[in-house]
Amino acid sequence: FFSLVTLSLRLSAQEVFNYDELKVGNLPLPAVLTPAVKNAADWQRNRRPEILRLFTTQMYGVFPGKPPHMHTQVQLVDSNALGGKAISKQVRLFLAAGDQAPFMDILLFLPKESKKPVPVFIGCNFLGNHTVSGENNILVKKVAHPVALGFQERRWEVARLIENGYALATYHYGDLEADSTDGWKTGIRTTLQQELKTAPDAWAALSVWGWGLSRLLDYLETEKAVDAKRVIATGHSRLGKAALWAVANDPRFAAVISNNSGEGGAALSTRWYGETIERINTRFPYWFTDAYKQYNKKPETLPFDQHMLLALIAPRPLYVASATEDLWTDPKGEFLAARAAGPVYALFKYEGVGVSEMPAPDHPVGKRIRYHVRTGKHDILWYDWEQYIKFANEELP
Ligand code: GCU
Repeated sequence: FFSLVTLSLRLSAQEVFNYDELKVGNLPLPAVLTPAVKNAADWQRNRRPEILRLFTTQMYGVFPGKPPHMHTQVQLVDSNALGGKAISKQVRLFLAAGDQAPFMDILLFLPKESKKPVPVFIGCNFLGNHTVSGENNILVKKVAHPVALGFQERRWEVARLIENGYALATYHYGDLEADSTDGWKTGIRTTLQQELKTAPDAWAALSVWGWGLSRLLDYLETEKAVDAKRVIATGHSRLGKAALWAVANDPRFAAVISNNSGEGGAALSTRWYGETIERINTRFPYWFTDAYKQYNKKPETLPFDQHMLLALIAPRPLYVASATEDLWTDPKGEFLAARAAGPVYALFKYEGVGVSEMPAPDHPVGKRIRYHVRTGKHDILWYDWEQYIKFANEELP
């Protein structure tokens, strides 16, 4: 049905955004598997590191390890959260020694009734922890956005996750780097450069935000009520890009869910449809390293594409979700990338999306790699969460 959309949006003389499937072009996808890769062991030993290196050197930059002097300070525990159904914990995670060190504030909700450690969905939030839930004891930071408590509650659905036996943990991505051109100057790329032995320009903002998810996972490994072997990274839009990159780098994550991540996330970059490499690099240059800019005008020279990022998740469960009206993210490009990661999952005897054509709206397809295109806009709705819960129940029993 996307081929019915035959609109090309002309925004300026230089910038033309294509929404016509007939004009997308037919660049061949770089091969995720080479003839030398005969089995899963070859993939893990040789091909996977090669691909990870490409994304590191050409696009997202490095993904540093755990800083040596992390420590936590519990700020508030409410054992009667969400009307008595949950325990909420607010914990400050300092990323270096001392109480003046850079930190990220973690908000964790745990189901109260569970007798054994629970699986947990985690994700960065856009506007501050106090927007994830309307509970009136969520700490609001001075620097936080002036938006109301619970402003984005419907995007998180904490109560329903808890009812389904899942915990939720989140941090505000701005804790680590403000989402602006100069953000790196006051963010951890600068303040932690010695601690991490990493120069600010060796990585970029998406890698920073994804790295925060790994630090959140470090914390969850110390949390007895959580099953740290079932931590599912999620993210919407730019934060979905960050989640994919985090899970590609950190094998401790059990699964990843990309919600409308689009260009630089789950969508193929070499398709000329919606957002392009040039556009994202121009509008958000600090999301990627300088090396990525070389492809602005020549996407055909890219030695990789985003299906290869998705393949780095294998054999772990991977969910890619699009939305019908979210053409900027190129839903079909997301489907095609998810489909093209399939051969790597097959090496591990796991089934991918299982179909060759894009499914109808609101009809999830696939198994270990799952895909749906929800009716509606760029957003994360209960429909999406319902599918993610079902997926996690099935693939991470
Ligand atoms: C912009 C950007 C996208 C991004 C989105 C978001 O639309 O072009 O790449 O995913 O913002 O994060 O909401």
